[in-house]
Order: sequence, then C-alpha cells, then structure tokens
Amino acid sequence: MDDIIKQIKEIKDKAIEEIRKTANLDNIFMLEKKYLGRKGEIAKFSKMLKDLAQDQKPVVGKLINETKEAIVEIINEVKQAFDSASTPKLDLDLTLPSAGQEFAGVHPITYLKWKVEDIFAKLGFTVVDGWEVEDDWHNFTALNIPQWHPARDIQDTFYIKHKRDDDKKTLLRTHTSPLQIRSMLKKGVPLRIIAPGRVYRNEATDARHETTFWQVEGLYVDKGVSIDNLIAVLNKAIKMVLGKDVKIRWRPGYFPFVEPGVEIDIECLLCSGKGCGVCKDTGWLEFSGAGMVHPNVLKAVDIDPDIWSGYAFGFGLTRLAMLKWGIDDVRLFLSGDLRFLKQFKK
Ligand code: PHE
Repeated sequence: MDDIIKQIKEIKDKAIEEIRKTANLDNIFMLEKKYLGRKGEIAKFSKMLKDLAQDQKPVVGKLINETKEAIVEIINEVKQAFDSASTPKLDLDLTLPSAGQEFAGVHPITYLKWKVEDIFAKLGFTVVDGWEVEDDWHNFTALNIPQWHPARDIQDTFYIKHKRDDDKKTLLRTHTSPLQIRSMLKKGVPLRIIAPGRVYRNEATDARHETTFWQVEGLYVDKGVSIDNLIAVLNKAIKMVLGKDVKIRWRPGYFPFVEPGVEIDIECLLCSGKGCGVCKDTGWLEFSGAGMVHPNVLKAVDIDPDIWSGYAFGFGLTRLAMLKWGIDDVRLFLSGDLRFLKQFKK
C-alpha cells in the first residue's frame, strides 16, 4: 500500500508541475485528459482499488479523491489565468466616440439644394420630390413635346425598355419638368412649388458634360399670374441664392412647354462681366430657362387656361455649384474623391 501511496503522491506532484508550466490553453486540455480522463493516470489507481485489502481501500480511495480535487483546482486556476489574459478587463466606456473620429460632411450639391429650398420656401414655394424613373407622357407629351417633336432630340434620353413605343415608355427623366405635371395632377391649382432633383441625359462625358446632374424646377399657377411676377421673383431669388447683387439679363428662348419663353443669364461670376474662358468672352453665363406655362400643358392636366395662368422655370443646380465655387470639372461631383468632397465639409 505504501508503494501505491508513494506513486499517487508522485503523480500528483508531476501533474501540478506540468500544469503550472503550461504556456498555452490547448496543453491544459491535453493534460486534463492525461491525468483526469477516463483512461488517465488517476483512473489507473482507481482500478487498483479493488485489489487492495478492505482496510486499505478507504485510505487509498481518499487520497485518490484528494489528488483529483487538487488537480482539478490547479487546472481551473490556470484556465482562468488564460481567460483573463485574453480578455483583459479594461476600464472601457463603449458609448464614448472614438478618438480622432472623422465626421462625414454634406455633398456640395446637397448643401446648395438645402440653401435653394430655404430661399424659395421664404418666397412661398413648397418643396416637392418626384420620380427619377419617369414615363414618356410626364417627361415629354404632357409638356407639349409630342412623339414627333424635334425638341426631344435636344434631350438625348436613356430609355429603360424599348418594348413599347408609346406614352407609357419608361425612361430616366431628362429634366425636372415632369414635376410640373405631377404636381398639378396631385395638388390641383392654385399651386406654387419647387422641385429639386437628379436628371439624366445620354451625354458623352467630359469636363462640362455629365450623364447625371441636378436641376431645380419651379412652377406657380394661379389666377392672373403674369410675366412680371416671374421676373420679380427670379430676380430676387437669384440674388439670394448667389448671395450677391449680380446683373441679370433676360432674353427670348424656346421651350415647348412655355409661351413666351425666356432664357436668363447672369453676369459671369469669375470675371465680373469682363470676359474670360468660362463665359467664352461674353461676360454672361446662362443660368435658367423660364416662361409662362403653355396653354397645352394646362389642358393636358385638365386645367382651364382661360381661367388659370402660371410661370415655370428650371435651372441647373450642378451648374450653379460650379459657378459658385469655381469648379471646372463637372465629373468631380460624382467622383467620390474625398480630396474634392472634404473641401465642402461644414
Ligand atoms: N426643362 C428645361 C431644361 O431642362 C428648363 C425649363 C424649365 C425651361 C421650365 C422653361 C421652364 O432645359
């Protein structure tokens, strides 16, 4: 019996030493199996118990149990040490913003859109939103641009499906003017709205042309609206948007959905009217198309042109941003280039 007791004590010391020295967690599991497993070192002694004398059994049995407990204890101790080493208890407040965090800024077009919306809201306009995927009728036909009209050629269009060849044909809107139609149909008259949004044209892309750009549409329909109202409101709004008292020039222009139609130029912001590369030495920059709503447009949405009249205007928000900040390449807006975008961080 003394022999067994000696062997058990030796195994216990050996186990404890090996476990303490272990440098990784996988070894611990291995040692646990080696000593405490079903076929492990300690189990061997348990099997010897039956061959011992009756009075020796409790003594050796007790020692085996104590040895097991001691090994379990040391294993747990070492496991815990590994656990707390791999998940260090730090004094962390996870709700705090991280150090050096960069906040996003608004896109320059968004910034300008908000500004334009604020200004027109002050002038009594409601901001409306619309579909970028339109149908032929809202984008062209209802705006007095029938299927055969050559004005369609000016706005080279992305069609979604070519299966149909009628008013229901799906397309990416080429201007924000379909919002004139949608607003009148939805809200009726009198009506005073602006509709900023993205438009698409099948352009060969270069520094001045993009397939995707932003416009702002305006429409006012009421009884007795005259071109004087249009001139007064736009003269005021343009100065508010640009934040300075620029010279504005009105000249005749053609758009099928207005009559009379006008084009509005502003004094070149880069050379103050002296003439430069941007204004092609004219001293003027095209700013907006506008005019009195054509009777055919009112008729298309069942509004009587003998009772109601209105004006409409549309200008390029992208173009305005280029002029305002002196940006010489339209492609920058959609480039996602942070070096460009960070300059507008508010
Ligand atoms: N939709 C026209 C364009 O994109 C602009 C415009 C709008 C002209 C409203 C007159 C009235 O060129």
